[in-house]
Amino acid sequence: MEAIIRPNEDSAARLVEQIVAGELRRHPSLVLGLATGRTMEAVYRLLVTGHQERNLDFSLCRTFNLDEYVGLAPTDPHSYRFYMNERLFNQVNLDPRNTHLPNGMAPDLDAECRDYEAKIKRCGGIDLQVLGIGKAGHIGFNEPLSALRSRTRVKSLSPVTVEQNAGFFGGATKVPRRAITMGVGTILDCRRCILLATGASKAEVIAKAVEGPITSMISATALQLHPHCTVVVDEEAASQLQAADYYRWIFENEPEWEEFR
Ligand code: F6R
Repeated sequence: MEAIIRPNEDSAARLVEQIVAGELRRHPSLVLGLATGRTMEAVYRLLVTGHQERNLDFSLCRTFNLDEYVGLAPTDPHSYRFYMNERLFNQVNLDPRNTHLPNGMAPDLDAECRDYEAKIKRCGGIDLQVLGIGKAGHIGFNEPLSALRSRTRVKSLSPVTVEQNAGFFGGATKVPRRAITMGVGTILDCRRCILLATGASKAEVIAKAVEGPITSMISATALQLHPHCTVVVDEEAASQLQAADYYRWIFENEPEWEEFR
């Protein structure tokens, strides 16, 4: 794992966008894993600008989202399908047939989860997975005690997650109680992971995810096992990292990051 600290939310999102855009230019048929949530909105705005102003081409790209609420139709403004259509899919030249999210309305949810895993496999696996982190330490909706080898399945949302997402729904009582989510094992199978976290509210959980012991209580700690995972944070989210100066030193000295400095 490596941790990169950028001065503010904008520059952190820009770095993630640069990495995604670079991979897409190098591999036009990239299989791209996507996340929703407030943090990702800036990244999607930048990718849309890249498409409109710098010919960033999504025509061959395939996408797989991490999760979807159970019981919400794709037309529901609170569904993650709706979020993705609005913020990215409808604004770039992605072929809608190449965009995938779990179907939270499937009559047989377990079959839907198995089918989602099979679809990822048929596409050759996910090349690059973009991740956010919840206050409960989840990636996707892998809530505390998610098995570190778990696959796509239905999970109940923890109270912390329900509270975190209450604002989007106009109150905690309206937040669905379950979601389909890629498992921690599914995420660990992706060839490269980038986790973006910004703001002071993520500082404590980022310190645990990056520097704490690996535990299923905080599913993001499993990323320490991943061979190519980059955590991008702004100064506020980095404020509780013990080895922040070391991470800055690596970013300044590692040739891989020269074009991004
Ligand atoms: C959503 C997802 C979640 C979010 C996380 C952070 O698809 O996978 O893990 O990334 O809850 O959400 P925000 O960015 O709203 O703080």
